[in-house]
Amino acid sequence: MHKFISLIAATFLFTINLFADDYEDEVRKRLGLNPQPQQASIASNTEVEPTSEGRSGELVYIQGCAACHDAGLAGAPLYGDDSQWELRIQKGLEMLTSNAYNGYNAMPAKGLCMDCSEEEIKRSVEYMLEALTIN
Ligand code: HEC
Repeated sequence: MHKFISLIAATFLFTINLFADDYEDEVRKRLGLNPQPQQASIASNTEVEPTSEGRSGELVYIQGCAACHDAGLAGAPLYGDDSQWELRIQKGLEMLTSNAYNGYNAMPAKGLCMDCSEEEIKRSVEYMLEALTIN
């Protein structure tokens, strides 16, 4: 039954993700970020690859992870709740990032951010850990 509810939640969130591009632009605007960060590095004509920049951990979190981690949906550990993260943070940032990127039980791969790089997922995990007082 839990799996079924998670599947419905995942399908729902995936559908929302299809509309996420406009939403992302809006979030970027509100956070005061450049709407198209890739252009900056192309224009600057440096060695920096556009993909090496990507989104901030905060943006990825707001866009995707928050849907479950702000509400504890499907048993997701709550954002900023020390007691729910206490045992998990002992796995370390690398393992937590790997689990978030590859999927872990009811936690879907990449947290449903289908175009997220592993670096972007890592930043969003760091963003979640920074909210704790025990990290
Ligand atoms: C569809 C809901 C959902 C979304 C979206 C989601 N998570 Fe999760 N997440 C979960 C659930 C449920 C768990 C608990 C899994 C378990 O321990 O069985 C979890 C656990 C985790 C963990 C702990 C893993 C561990 O090894 O203990 C991390 C880290 C995490 N999520 C990061 C993220 C990040 C980063 C994002 C966004 C990119 C994200 N999650 C988006 C549901 C979600």
